[in-house]
Amino acid sequence: MSRKPIIVGNWKMNKLQKDAVEFMQGVEAHLTGDEAADFGIAAPFTCLNACVANAKHLIVAAENCNAKDSGAYTGEVSVPMLEEIGITYCIIGHSERRTYYAETNEACAAKAKRLFASNIVPILCIGETEAQYDAGETAAVLKEELKGSLEGLSADEVSRMVIAYEPIWAIGTGKSADQTIAQDCCALVRKTVEELYDADTAAKVRIQYGGSVKPTNIKEYMACADIDGALIGGASLKVDSFLEIIDAVR
Ligand code: PGA
Repeated sequence: MSRKPIIVGNWKMNKLQKDAVEFMQGVEAHLTGDEAADFGIAAPFTCLNACVANAKHLIVAAENCNAKDSGAYTGEVSVPMLEEIGITYCIIGHSERRTYYAETNEACAAKAKRLFASNIVPILCIGETEAQYDAGETAAVLKEELKGSLEGLSADEVSRMVIAYEPIWAIGTGKSADQTIAQDCCALVRKTVEELYDADTAAKVRIQYGGSVKPTNIKEYMACADIDGALIGGASLKVDSFLEIIDAVR
């Protein structure tokens, strides 16, 4: 089964529109329409239009969405709103949203279902805390997050989605998971998808590693059998470092 690698930058709450445009133009200048991997960025809502307007080859993803189509949800952005401006991917369940905004597995499942209805690919994030890692609970946490967040999704939907394994202790800390841990956990994610669905779905789903990925360590992760890409925070903010990552993946 050959899965197309997918590298996505996650800007989080960074960049004004002018910075976003500068980034898009800077990176697009180096991309051909014929890359062996998908490259993209997830941007704050206010930058999405500008990113789409300047995207030729880069995927433009949202960082969140609401599962409801419309209504009295002050401050929220719906999937039809993302669809209207040409968004094709959307992060759900990032640990920062789970921690600061109480995003649950149940909410992730509802968001994923609604995204698929608009043909937007969810990038579902899962991962354990440092305390859970130290207590040997990683496998149980990943299985529970997957089971809850995939609830109600069809095998066909899951085969098209992206799952990002992001150990919380590695996010923004500079303390990236070593190659063995990252590979073992991504393999566990794939095995769990096989248990919940089937071998074909597990063989198709793209699994990313995320957590302090940099130009200097991306190759190690990409060499792993069950790692199909990366979700990259800090190192996706500057054109130069994102281009270095792209070059390393090539
Ligand atoms: P980081 O963030 O690359 O800065 O560790 C990753 C993420 O939060 O997706």
